[in-house]
Amino acid sequence: MKISVIGCGYLGAVHAACMASLGHDVIGVDIDADKVAVLNRGDVPFFEPGLEQILQQSLASGRLRFAVAPATDELVDVDVHFVTVGTPQSATSGAADLSFVNSAFDMIEAAVKSSTKKPVVVGKSTVPVGTAHALAKRIAPLGLTLVWNPEFLRESFAVEDTLRPDRLVYGLSDDPAHAVHGQSVLDEIYASMLAAGIPRLVMNYPTAELVKVAANSFLATKISFINAMAELCEATGGDVVELAHALGHDVRIGNRFLSAGVGFGGGCLPKDIRAFVSRAEELGVEDAVGFLREVDEINQRRRDRVVDLSFAALGGAVAGKKITVLGAAFKPNSDDIRDSPALDVALRLHEHGAQVTVTDPEALGAVEKRLPQLRTQVETMAALKGADLVLLLTEWDEYKNLDPAVVRGIVAHPKIIDGRNVLDAQAWKAAGWGYRGLGRH
Ligand code: UGA
Repeated sequence: MKISVIGCGYLGAVHAACMASLGHDVIGVDIDADKVAVLNRGDVPFFEPGLEQILQQSLASGRLRFAVAPATDELVDVDVHFVTVGTPQSATSGAADLSFVNSAFDMIEAAVKSSTKKPVVVGKSTVPVGTAHALAKRIAPLGLTLVWNPEFLRESFAVEDTLRPDRLVYGLSDDPAHAVHGQSVLDEIYASMLAAGIPRLVMNYPTAELVKVAANSFLATKISFINAMAELCEATGGDVVELAHALGHDVRIGNRFLSAGVGFGGGCLPKDIRAFVSRAEELGVEDAVGFLREVDEINQRRRDRVVDLSFAALGGAVAGKKITVLGAAFKPNSDDIRDSPALDVALRLHEHGAQVTVTDPEALGAVEKRLPQLRTQVETMAALKGADLVLLLTEWDEYKNLDPAVVRGIVAHPKIIDGRNVLDAQAWKAAGWGYRGLGRH
């Protein structure tokens, strides 16, 4: 099939490369000319394990190329358009900004008007419930079918999650002819994945849109739940790591996404729960998801807690003190710093006058670009030199495996706050460190 993938960020670039690897002829389109050039060279403009190999193989096969939007000529001959643009949080409220989605549909309309083909449009972006219905109405006069096919990939496992997802969700039109057509075209695209036994779940548009935001809301709630328990542990002398471990033995609860710490960040969970609340308000059902405001607040409080603990560890004042922050990305194995808890904490301490040095194996380029006021140092040991306080805020393996005795010889004062509860507290204490986890004593 001839496929376009409109929007080549974390989701689109991976989707384009993976669809080409399945044997489709793919054109990826993006407004960022630099990104298009980088992708066409076979380089990945962000850190995503495994993507470079599949991208280069797909480019070499001749089945994948990238073009600068609007690329109308390139889109004319396409059978299926995937819309994979971002839906960031609006600058003025918690709602999602749909301007990129609308421009993608503008591009599709322009291409269709100069073509004899009637392509299927497949929406993958995370959108407020009701969007698919409105977009389907918009393209109906052109005779186009819309399918809403949300994406559940995790950054740092993006290739695996795209080629071997837990499930494929198809949100189909209420119009039976459009529904049958959309389903059969998507079945053809994903034929090899379906043959491999990946479950395909068919539903209407609003349900498909809700699956996506409900999944991210559930994950965010699970993290904030255990972080709320961390607050209780702090007030009572409990240990949230042991608590989570014990809870996880109940298979109904499970232990995944039950790691307490500085909380969730990234380009998805925080903005998706806010957009969900905002959409529920518009629909007059805000009470149904009012708890997500609490989820957000618990999450923000964890960042406050690390800042407070830093003040306490440094005798009540951080001005002039050397603080080393281990990790800048919102999670390990990623260079994404969107709404990163680590950087939020680093920035706040910097604003309080601390001499903050941030280190990260992959994300420092992004930090230097977006937060030039922060001092960066890529070498972990150099970053730790002379520190009055160390904060571990993104759990890269390199930081988890640090030898407390070795690091003790480098810092000025052996004090560490383990914002991800990943270090062996006893080993660090035994090596002479003042160790604080979150929700642990
Ligand atoms: C998330 C979802 O996990 C994906 O299923 C979804 O497709 C994606 O958003 C999206 O909407 O595109 P991602 O943002 O890549 O994926 O990151 P996660 O692995 O979910 O982690 C989110 C944050 O939660 C990170 O900051 C992580 O450190 C934090 N986290 C995760 C915890 O604090 N505790 C945990 O137990 C797990």
